[in-house]
Amino acid sequence: MRTQVAIIGGGPSGLLLSQLLNRAGIATVVLERRSRDYVLSRIRAGILETGTVDLLREAGAGARMDVEGIPHDGCLLADNGEMFRIDFAAACGRKVMVYGQTEVTQDLYDAQDAIGATIFNEASDVALHDVDSDTPHVTFRHGSKDHRLDCDVIAGCDGFHGVSRQSIPAALRQEFERIYPFGWLGILSRTPPVSDELIYARSDRGFALASLRNPMLSRYYVQVPLTDRVEDWSDEAFWDEFRARLPAEVAARLVTGPSIEKSIAPLRSFVSEPMRWGRLFLCGDAAHIVPPTGAKGLNLAVSDVHYLCEALIQRYRTGSEAGLDGYSARALARVWQAMRFSWSMTTMMHSFPEHGGFDRRMQQTELALLQRSEAARRLMAENYTGLPF
Ligand code: FAD
Ligand code: DHB
Repeated sequence: MRTQVAIIGGGPSGLLLSQLLNRAGIATVVLERRSRDYVLSRIRAGILETGTVDLLREAGAGARMDVEGIPHDGCLLADNGEMFRIDFAAACGRKVMVYGQTEVTQDLYDAQDAIGATIFNEASDVALHDVDSDTPHVTFRHGSKDHRLDCDVIAGCDGFHGVSRQSIPAALRQEFERIYPFGWLGILSRTPPVSDELIYARSDRGFALASLRNPMLSRYYVQVPLTDRVEDWSDEAFWDEFRARLPAEVAARLVTGPSIEKSIAPLRSFVSEPMRWGRLFLCGDAAHIVPPTGAKGLNLAVSDVHYLCEALIQRYRTGSEAGLDGYSARALARVWQAMRFSWSMTTMMHSFPEHGGFDRRMQQTELALLQRSEAARRLMAENYTGLPF
Protein backbone atom coordinates (compact mmCIF):
# COMPACT_ATOMS: atom_id res chain seq x y z
CA MET A 1 0.00 0.00 0.00
CA ARG A 2 1.03 3.57 -0.53
CA THR A 3 -0.32 6.81 0.88
CA GLN A 4 0.92 10.35 1.40
CA VAL A 5 0.51 10.59 5.20
CA ALA A 6 0.48 7.45 7.39
CA ILE A 7 -1.27 8.25 10.66
CA ILE A 8 -0.54 6.04 13.69
CA GLY A 9 -3.44 6.18 16.17
CA GLY A 10 -7.15 6.76 15.61
CA GLY A 11 -7.90 8.83 18.71
CA PRO A 12 -9.00 12.46 18.41
CA SER A 13 -5.69 13.74 17.01
CA GLY A 14 -5.26 11.01 14.36
CA LEU A 15 -8.86 11.22 13.19
CA LEU A 16 -8.93 15.02 13.06
CA LEU A 17 -5.65 15.17 11.14
CA SER A 18 -6.90 12.56 8.69
CA GLN A 19 -10.18 14.42 8.21
CA LEU A 20 -8.53 17.82 7.60
CA LEU A 21 -5.92 16.38 5.22
CA ASN A 22 -8.47 14.42 3.20
CA ARG A 23 -10.56 17.54 2.78
CA ALA A 24 -7.45 19.31 1.47
CA GLY A 25 -6.92 16.51 -1.09
CA ILE A 26 -4.06 14.80 0.77
CA ALA A 27 -4.29 10.99 1.06
CA THR A 28 -4.05 9.33 4.48
CA VAL A 29 -4.25 5.90 6.07
CA VAL A 30 -5.05 5.65 9.80
CA LEU A 31 -3.74 2.66 11.80
CA GLU A 32 -5.50 2.18 15.16
CA ARG A 33 -4.60 -0.61 17.55
CA ARG A 34 -8.04 -0.87 19.17
CA SER A 35 -11.53 -1.58 17.86
CA ARG A 36 -13.78 1.35 17.06
CA ASP A 37 -16.12 0.41 19.93
CA TYR A 38 -13.23 0.41 22.37
CA VAL A 39 -12.03 3.85 21.24
CA LEU A 40 -15.58 5.19 21.50
CA SER A 41 -16.14 3.81 25.00
CA ARG A 42 -13.26 5.75 26.58
CA ILE A 43 -14.61 8.53 28.79
CA ARG A 44 -12.10 11.33 28.85
CA ALA A 45 -12.10 15.09 28.31
CA GLY A 46 -15.18 17.29 28.37
CA ILE A 47 -14.21 20.88 27.62
CA LEU A 48 -13.43 22.28 24.16
CA GLU A 49 -11.61 25.58 23.65
CA THR A 50 -12.86 28.05 21.03
CA GLY A 51 -10.05 27.07 18.64
CA THR A 52 -10.97 23.39 18.97
CA VAL A 53 -14.62 24.15 18.26
CA ASP A 54 -13.64 26.19 15.17
CA LEU A 55 -11.34 23.46 13.83
CA LEU A 56 -13.98 20.74 14.28
CA ARG A 57 -16.38 22.90 12.26
CA GLU A 58 -13.72 23.46 9.61
CA ALA A 59 -13.24 19.68 9.45
CA GLY A 60 -16.94 19.23 8.70
CA ALA A 61 -17.41 17.48 12.06
CA GLY A 62 -19.10 20.24 14.06
CA ALA A 63 -22.81 19.92 13.23
CA ARG A 64 -23.89 17.75 16.19
CA MET A 65 -21.57 19.65 18.55
CA ASP A 66 -23.31 22.89 17.55
CA VAL A 67 -26.69 21.37 18.49
CA GLU A 68 -25.79 19.30 21.56
CA GLY A 69 -22.72 21.09 22.96
CA ILE A 70 -23.28 23.55 25.78
CA PRO A 71 -21.41 26.90 25.56
CA HIS A 72 -20.06 28.01 28.95
CA ASP A 73 -18.94 31.56 29.55
CA GLY A 74 -17.67 31.08 33.08
CA CYS A 75 -16.73 28.60 35.82
CA LEU A 76 -16.76 28.55 39.62
CA LEU A 77 -13.78 28.21 41.95
CA ALA A 78 -14.19 27.24 45.60
CA ASP A 79 -11.78 27.24 48.53
CA ASN A 80 -12.98 25.37 51.63
CA GLY A 81 -16.59 26.23 50.90
CA GLU A 82 -16.17 29.82 49.72
CA MET A 83 -17.10 30.08 46.07
CA PHE A 84 -16.64 32.74 43.39
CA ARG A 85 -17.11 32.91 39.65
CA ILE A 86 -14.68 33.61 36.81
CA ASP A 87 -16.61 35.23 33.98
CA PHE A 88 -14.64 34.23 30.86
CA ALA A 89 -16.74 36.40 28.57
CA ALA A 90 -16.18 39.52 30.71
CA ALA A 91 -12.51 38.74 31.35
CA CYS A 92 -11.39 37.90 27.81
CA GLY A 93 -14.41 37.84 25.49
CA ARG A 94 -14.24 34.08 24.84
CA LYS A 95 -16.01 30.95 26.06
CA VAL A 96 -15.66 27.16 26.00
CA MET A 97 -17.94 24.36 24.87
CA VAL A 98 -18.99 21.41 27.04
CA TYR A 99 -18.94 18.42 24.66
CA GLY A 100 -17.40 15.06 25.53
CA GLN A 101 -14.35 13.59 23.84
CA THR A 102 -16.44 10.46 23.18
CA GLU A 103 -18.83 12.57 21.09
CA VAL A 104 -15.96 14.34 19.29
CA THR A 105 -14.46 10.97 18.38
CA GLN A 106 -17.82 9.62 17.21
CA ASP A 107 -18.36 12.70 15.01
CA LEU A 108 -14.87 12.35 13.53
CA TYR A 109 -15.40 8.64 12.74
CA ASP A 110 -18.75 9.53 11.10
CA ALA A 111 -17.12 12.31 9.08
CA GLN A 112 -14.31 9.97 8.00
CA ASP A 113 -16.83 7.31 6.95
CA ALA A 114 -18.76 9.91 4.94
CA ILE A 115 -15.70 10.78 2.86
CA GLY A 116 -14.57 7.17 2.54
CA ALA A 117 -11.32 7.57 4.50
CA THR A 118 -9.13 4.51 5.10
CA ILE A 119 -8.95 3.46 8.75
CA PHE A 120 -7.60 0.11 9.93
CA ASN A 121 -8.97 -0.64 13.39
CA GLU A 122 -7.36 -3.45 15.37
CA ALA A 123 -4.06 -2.97 13.52
CA SER A 124 -1.39 -4.75 15.58
CA ASP A 125 2.41 -4.83 15.61
CA VAL A 126 2.64 -1.36 14.09
CA ALA A 127 6.32 -0.55 13.44
CA LEU A 128 7.98 2.49 11.85
CA HIS A 129 10.90 2.05 9.41
CA ASP A 130 13.45 4.31 7.69
CA VAL A 131 11.98 7.31 9.45
CA ASP A 132 15.14 9.35 8.91
CA SER A 133 15.16 8.70 5.16
CA ASP A 134 13.04 10.16 2.34
CA THR A 135 11.25 6.83 1.95
CA PRO A 136 9.74 5.91 5.31
CA HIS A 137 7.31 3.02 5.69
CA VAL A 138 5.15 1.41 8.31
CA THR A 139 4.46 -2.29 8.79
CA PHE A 140 1.48 -3.74 10.66
CA ARG A 141 -0.73 -6.77 11.00
CA HIS A 142 -4.45 -6.65 10.28
CA GLY A 143 -6.65 -9.73 10.52
CA SER A 144 -4.31 -12.53 9.57
CA LYS A 145 -2.27 -10.48 7.07
CA ASP A 146 0.97 -8.55 7.33
CA HIS A 147 1.00 -5.21 5.51
CA ARG A 148 3.54 -2.64 4.40
CA LEU A 149 2.47 0.98 4.00
CA ASP A 150 4.83 3.30 2.09
CA CYS A 151 4.36 7.02 2.65
CA ASP A 152 5.95 10.48 2.48
CA VAL A 153 5.35 11.38 6.12
CA ILE A 154 4.32 9.58 9.33
CA ALA A 155 2.12 11.34 11.90
CA GLY A 156 2.56 9.82 15.36
CA CYS A 157 -0.87 10.33 16.97
CA ASP A 158 -0.78 7.19 19.12
CA GLY A 159 -0.96 8.65 22.60
CA PHE A 160 1.40 8.39 25.55
CA HIS A 161 1.87 4.59 25.35
CA GLY A 162 2.21 4.45 21.54
CA VAL A 163 5.15 3.30 19.41
CA SER A 164 5.87 6.55 17.57
CA ARG A 165 7.74 8.48 20.26
CA GLN A 166 9.64 5.31 21.21
CA SER A 167 10.86 5.02 17.59
CA ILE A 168 12.90 8.20 18.04
CA PRO A 169 16.38 7.23 19.32
CA ALA A 170 16.58 7.99 23.04
CA ALA A 171 19.74 10.07 22.49
CA LEU A 172 17.78 12.48 20.28
CA ARG A 173 14.92 12.97 22.73
CA GLN A 174 14.80 15.16 25.78
CA GLU A 175 12.04 14.38 28.25
CA PHE A 176 10.65 16.64 30.94
CA GLU A 177 8.36 15.15 33.55
CA ARG A 178 6.55 15.82 36.78
CA ILE A 179 4.53 13.08 38.42
CA TYR A 180 2.01 14.29 40.98
CA PRO A 181 1.44 12.29 44.16
CA PHE A 182 -2.29 11.73 43.46
CA GLY A 183 -4.83 10.78 40.82
CA TRP A 184 -8.40 11.67 39.93
CA LEU A 185 -11.21 9.24 40.61
CA GLY A 186 -13.93 10.09 38.09
CA ILE A 187 -17.50 8.91 37.80
CA LEU A 188 -20.22 9.39 35.23
CA SER A 189 -23.82 9.22 36.45
CA ARG A 190 -27.23 9.73 34.90
CA THR A 191 -28.19 12.48 37.32
CA PRO A 192 -28.86 16.20 36.79
CA PRO A 193 -25.56 18.12 37.22
CA VAL A 194 -25.24 19.81 40.59
CA SER A 195 -24.27 23.07 38.87
CA ASP A 196 -24.86 24.57 35.42
CA GLU A 197 -21.22 25.69 35.42
CA LEU A 198 -18.14 23.66 36.35
CA ILE A 199 -17.01 23.91 39.97
CA TYR A 200 -13.30 23.48 40.72
CA ALA A 201 -13.26 22.99 44.51
CA ARG A 202 -10.20 23.07 46.75
CA SER A 203 -10.71 21.78 50.27
CA ASP A 204 -8.58 20.48 53.11
CA ARG A 205 -9.91 17.00 52.24
CA GLY A 206 -8.53 17.34 48.69
CA PHE A 207 -9.69 18.60 45.29
CA ALA A 208 -13.08 17.94 43.69
CA LEU A 209 -14.48 18.89 40.29
CA ALA A 210 -18.14 19.02 39.32
CA SER A 211 -18.52 18.78 35.56
CA LEU A 212 -21.21 17.58 33.19
CA ARG A 213 -21.93 16.20 29.75
CA ASN A 214 -25.59 17.18 29.33
CA PRO A 215 -28.62 18.11 31.48
CA MET A 216 -29.03 14.48 32.60
CA LEU A 217 -25.41 13.34 32.70
CA SER A 218 -22.94 14.40 35.38
CA ARG A 219 -19.16 13.94 35.39
CA TYR A 220 -17.58 14.31 38.83
CA TYR A 221 -14.05 13.83 40.13
CA VAL A 222 -12.24 13.66 43.46
CA GLN A 223 -8.50 13.72 44.12
CA VAL A 224 -7.32 10.36 45.54
CA PRO A 225 -3.95 8.96 46.68
CA LEU A 226 -2.06 7.06 43.97
CA THR A 227 -2.35 3.91 46.05
CA ASP A 228 -6.19 3.86 45.83
CA ARG A 229 -7.83 1.42 43.42
CA VAL A 230 -11.24 1.83 41.79
CA GLU A 231 -12.45 -1.29 43.63
CA ASP A 232 -11.78 0.52 46.93
CA TRP A 233 -14.43 3.10 46.08
CA SER A 234 -18.11 2.15 46.33
CA ASP A 235 -20.55 4.64 44.81
CA GLU A 236 -21.65 5.60 48.35
CA ALA A 237 -18.06 6.30 49.40
CA PHE A 238 -17.57 8.46 46.30
CA TRP A 239 -20.73 10.50 46.90
CA ASP A 240 -19.90 11.03 50.59
CA GLU A 241 -16.41 12.26 49.80
CA PHE A 242 -17.50 14.39 46.85
CA ARG A 243 -20.24 16.04 48.93
CA ALA A 244 -17.82 16.75 51.77
CA ARG A 245 -15.46 18.64 49.41
CA LEU A 246 -18.15 20.88 47.87
CA PRO A 247 -19.42 24.16 49.34
CA ALA A 248 -22.36 23.36 51.69
CA GLU A 249 -25.02 25.08 49.55
CA VAL A 250 -23.91 23.08 46.51
CA ALA A 251 -23.64 19.79 48.43
CA ALA A 252 -27.20 20.28 49.71
CA ARG A 253 -28.61 20.07 46.19
CA LEU A 254 -26.47 17.18 44.92
CA VAL A 255 -28.53 14.42 43.33
CA THR A 256 -26.79 11.04 43.52
CA GLY A 257 -27.35 7.80 41.61
CA PRO A 258 -25.50 4.72 40.41
CA SER A 259 -22.23 5.36 38.56
CA ILE A 260 -22.18 4.19 34.93
CA GLU A 261 -18.40 4.58 34.68
CA LYS A 262 -15.73 4.85 37.33
CA SER A 263 -11.98 5.12 36.79
CA ILE A 264 -8.79 6.54 38.27
CA ALA A 265 -6.33 8.57 36.18
CA PRO A 266 -2.87 9.47 37.55
CA LEU A 267 -1.74 13.09 37.11
CA ARG A 268 1.40 13.81 35.15
CA SER A 269 3.09 16.64 33.27
CA PHE A 270 5.30 15.34 30.46
CA VAL A 271 6.93 16.78 27.34
CA SER A 272 9.20 15.02 24.84
CA GLU A 273 11.29 17.33 22.66
CA PRO A 274 11.57 17.69 19.72
CA MET A 275 8.21 16.68 18.23
CA ARG A 276 9.84 15.69 14.94
CA TRP A 277 12.45 13.19 13.82
CA GLY A 278 13.13 12.87 10.11
CA ARG A 279 9.79 12.11 8.43
CA LEU A 280 7.99 11.48 11.77
CA PHE A 281 5.88 14.21 13.39
CA LEU A 282 4.30 13.69 16.82
CA CYS A 283 0.88 15.10 17.74
CA GLY A 284 -1.06 15.16 21.02
CA ASP A 285 -0.47 12.76 23.91
CA ALA A 286 2.26 10.97 21.92
CA ALA A 287 4.46 14.00 22.69
CA HIS A 288 3.02 15.51 25.86
CA ILE A 289 0.69 14.93 28.81
CA VAL A 290 -0.86 17.56 31.06
CA PRO A 291 -2.61 17.01 34.38
CA PRO A 292 -6.36 17.36 33.69
CA THR A 293 -6.98 20.36 35.97
CA GLY A 294 -6.92 22.94 33.19
CA ALA A 295 -8.86 20.77 30.68
CA LYS A 296 -6.02 21.15 28.17
CA GLY A 297 -5.13 17.59 27.00
CA LEU A 298 -7.53 17.21 24.12
CA ASN A 299 -7.25 20.86 23.16
CA LEU A 300 -3.46 20.66 22.91
CA ALA A 301 -3.76 17.64 20.64
CA VAL A 302 -6.00 19.72 18.40
CA SER A 303 -3.59 22.67 18.18
CA ASP A 304 -0.74 20.29 17.23
CA VAL A 305 -2.97 18.88 14.49
CA HIS A 306 -3.71 22.39 13.24
CA TYR A 307 0.01 23.26 12.96
CA LEU A 308 0.94 19.96 11.32
CA CYS A 309 -1.95 20.16 8.90
CA GLU A 310 -0.97 23.67 7.80
CA ALA A 311 2.62 22.54 7.27
CA LEU A 312 1.59 19.48 5.24
CA ILE A 313 -0.79 21.49 3.07
CA GLN A 314 2.04 23.96 2.38
CA ARG A 315 4.35 21.06 1.50
CA TYR A 316 1.92 19.45 -0.94
CA ARG A 317 0.71 22.71 -2.52
CA THR A 318 4.02 24.57 -2.84
CA GLY A 319 6.75 21.98 -2.30
CA SER A 320 8.13 24.10 0.59
CA GLU A 321 9.16 22.22 3.74
CA ALA A 322 9.47 25.42 5.78
CA GLY A 323 6.29 24.66 7.73
CA LEU A 324 7.39 21.09 8.48
CA ASP A 325 10.81 22.35 9.58
CA GLY A 326 9.18 24.83 11.94
CA TYR A 327 6.48 22.45 13.23
CA SER A 328 8.16 21.23 16.40
CA ALA A 329 9.19 24.67 17.67
CA ARG A 330 5.80 26.17 16.82
CA ALA A 331 3.83 23.39 18.53
CA LEU A 332 6.13 23.28 21.58
CA ALA A 333 5.77 27.02 22.22
CA ARG A 334 2.03 26.51 22.76
CA VAL A 335 2.51 23.18 24.56
CA TRP A 336 4.69 24.81 27.22
CA GLN A 337 2.13 27.57 27.81
CA ALA A 338 -0.52 24.90 28.45
CA MET A 339 1.96 22.95 30.63
CA ARG A 340 2.45 26.03 32.78
CA PHE A 341 -1.27 26.69 33.11
CA SER A 342 -2.18 23.07 33.94
CA TRP A 343 0.66 22.82 36.47
CA SER A 344 -0.34 26.10 38.16
CA MET A 345 -4.05 25.15 38.33
CA THR A 346 -3.06 21.74 39.72
CA THR A 347 -0.73 23.27 42.30
CA MET A 348 -3.32 25.86 43.36
CA MET A 349 -6.21 23.42 43.82
CA HIS A 350 -4.86 20.11 45.19
CA SER A 351 -3.67 18.89 48.59
CA PHE A 352 -0.05 17.77 48.37
CA PRO A 353 1.19 15.38 51.08
CA GLU A 354 4.42 17.39 51.39
CA HIS A 355 2.72 20.78 51.70
CA GLY A 356 3.01 22.75 54.91
CA GLY A 357 1.43 25.96 56.15
CA PHE A 358 3.38 28.16 53.74
CA ASP A 359 2.17 26.27 50.66
CA ARG A 360 -1.39 26.41 51.96
CA ARG A 361 -1.15 30.19 52.34
CA MET A 362 0.19 30.43 48.77
CA GLN A 363 -2.87 28.54 47.49
CA GLN A 364 -5.21 30.81 49.45
CA THR A 365 -3.39 33.87 48.15
CA GLU A 366 -3.55 32.71 44.52
CA LEU A 367 -7.30 32.16 44.85
CA ALA A 368 -7.73 35.51 46.60
CA LEU A 369 -5.78 37.18 43.80
CA LEU A 370 -8.21 35.75 41.25
CA GLN A 371 -11.12 37.11 43.28
CA ARG A 372 -9.57 40.54 43.71
CA SER A 373 -7.73 41.24 40.48
CA GLU A 374 -9.25 41.70 37.05
CA ALA A 375 -5.78 41.16 35.55
CA ALA A 376 -5.47 37.76 37.26
CA ARG A 377 -8.95 36.72 36.09
CA ARG A 378 -8.10 37.76 32.56
CA LEU A 379 -4.90 35.70 32.57
CA MET A 380 -6.79 32.66 33.81
CA ALA A 381 -9.67 33.14 31.36
CA GLU A 382 -7.32 33.57 28.39
CA ASN A 383 -5.55 30.34 29.27
CA TYR A 384 -8.66 28.35 30.14
CA THR A 385 -10.59 29.31 27.02
CA GLY A 386 -7.43 28.65 25.01
CA LEU A 387 -4.49 30.69 23.77
CA PRO A 388 -4.75 31.44 20.05
CA PHE A 389 -3.33 28.84 17.64
P1 FAD B 1 -5.25 9.29 22.48
O1 FAD B 1 -6.63 9.72 22.78
O2 FAD B 1 -4.51 8.54 23.54
O3 FAD B 1 -5.31 8.41 21.16
C1 FAD B 1 -4.22 7.64 20.73
C2 FAD B 1 -4.74 6.46 19.95
O4 FAD B 1 -3.64 5.70 19.48
C3 FAD B 1 -5.58 5.52 20.82
O5 FAD B 1 -6.82 5.30 20.19
C4 FAD B 1 -4.74 4.27 20.93
O6 FAD B 1 -5.53 3.10 21.01
C5 FAD B 1 -3.91 4.33 19.66
N1 FAD B 1 -2.64 3.62 19.76
C6 FAD B 1 -1.81 3.54 20.83
N2 FAD B 1 -0.74 2.80 20.54
C7 FAD B 1 -0.89 2.38 19.27
C8 FAD B 1 -0.11 1.58 18.41
N3 FAD B 1 1.03 1.02 18.84
N4 FAD B 1 -0.55 1.36 17.15
C9 FAD B 1 -1.72 1.91 16.72
N5 FAD B 1 -2.50 2.69 17.51
C10 FAD B 1 -2.09 2.92 18.76
N6 FAD B 1 -8.02 15.53 29.02
C11 FAD B 1 -8.78 16.50 29.44
O7 FAD B 1 -8.66 17.61 28.92
N7 FAD B 1 -9.72 16.26 30.42
C12 FAD B 1 -9.90 15.02 30.99
O8 FAD B 1 -10.75 14.83 31.85
C13 FAD B 1 -9.08 13.98 30.58
N8 FAD B 1 -9.20 12.74 31.12
C14 FAD B 1 -8.36 11.76 30.69
C15 FAD B 1 -8.42 10.48 31.25
C16 FAD B 1 -7.54 9.46 30.83
C17 FAD B 1 -7.62 8.08 31.46
C18 FAD B 1 -6.58 9.74 29.82
C19 FAD B 1 -5.62 8.65 29.36
C20 FAD B 1 -6.53 11.01 29.26
C21 FAD B 1 -7.40 12.02 29.68
N9 FAD B 1 -7.35 13.31 29.13
C22 FAD B 1 -8.15 14.29 29.56
C23 FAD B 1 -6.45 13.66 28.09
C24 FAD B 1 -7.11 13.58 26.74
O9 FAD B 1 -8.06 12.55 26.73
C25 FAD B 1 -6.01 13.37 25.74
O10 FAD B 1 -5.18 14.50 25.78
C26 FAD B 1 -6.49 13.11 24.33
O11 FAD B 1 -7.17 11.89 24.25
C27 FAD B 1 -5.31 13.11 23.38
O12 FAD B 1 -5.70 12.63 22.13
P2 FAD B 1 -4.68 11.82 21.25
O13 FAD B 1 -5.46 11.46 20.02
O14 FAD B 1 -3.42 12.56 21.10
O15 FAD B 1 -4.32 10.52 22.08
C1 DHB C 1 -13.61 17.71 32.64
C2 DHB C 1 -12.33 17.28 32.84
C3 DHB C 1 -11.37 18.19 33.21
O1 DHB C 1 -10.11 17.80 33.39
C4 DHB C 1 -11.67 19.52 33.39
O2 DHB C 1 -10.71 20.38 33.78
C5 DHB C 1 -12.94 19.95 33.16
C6 DHB C 1 -13.92 19.02 32.79
C7 DHB C 1 -14.65 16.73 32.27
O3 DHB C 1 -14.35 15.55 32.11
O4 DHB C 1 -15.81 17.13 32.13
